[in-house]
Amino acid sequence: MRRIVIATGNPKKVEELRSILAEAMDEGGPEVLGLADLPGADRLTEPEEHHDERGSFEGNARLKAIGYAAQTDLPCLADDSGLEVDALGGRPGVISSHYSTGGAETGLHREERDGANNRKLLEDLKGVPLERRTARFVCVMALAMPGDPPQVVLTSRGEFEGRIGLPEAEAGGRMELVVPRGGGGFGYDPLLLLTEPQAGAGTRTSAELSPEEKNRLSHRGKAARAMVERIGAMRAER
Ligand code: IMP
Repeated sequence: MRRIVIATGNPKKVEELRSILAEAMDEGGPEVLGLADLPGADRLTEPEEHHDERGSFEGNARLKAIGYAAQTDLPCLADDSGLEVDALGGRPGVISSHYSTGGAETGLHREERDGANNRKLLEDLKGVPLERRTARFVCVMALAMPGDPPQVVLTSRGEFEGRIGLPEAEAGGRMELVVPRGGGGFGYDPLLLLTEPQAGAGTRTSAELSPEEKNRLSHRGKAARAMVERIGAMRAER
């Protein structure tokens, strides 16, 4: 495998994964490309994901990896991610990006969508005490090889644990638990108080991490490093 395509249109994800892959792979690792680096990128069509009860993170990652491997004839690495809240039975899950509309496309910009999703999440958790607000970001990656048909050969998963903090009106003066907080990241980052020891042990939100810390500690970082290990093992076997 001399080249690998990161199957996302999001340039931030390509950069993030390029740096994780470069750091984790020794010399001679594959050249990492984004979809935009490919000739004819504008003719690629985005495989359709399931943003409803038919969907799962792994299913969506597989759909994207296979869809792009078929179109590009190159090994493709795709991911799908989202937030699981225990008190909501694992929702928003695969509808994380469109939670405020129950999974329906809105046409809104990412920031507006994120704001509406975050407001709905806090509303849905109204009255739920902190100890029952456990939640995690989840990322699943799938690597598909081209062929007839293309096939997923490896998958990996990473999780980033925390609790959804409290709105000021429900925090009873415990300001360290009040959310939204923090100017970094995107999506639900300002709501998740991270409980993993390296990430603040319940005092910092995901939006209060530096980009480097987030790469190192997050669900995406963990899934990417697990994938790199598996790619290394697969190459060693050949
Ligand atoms: P996607 O995998 O880029 O489609 O992300 C799906 C959705 O999950 C995003 O729109 C966010 O709402 C949420 N999400 C995934 N990863 C993160 C993260 O690192 N921080 C905050 N929200 C996230």
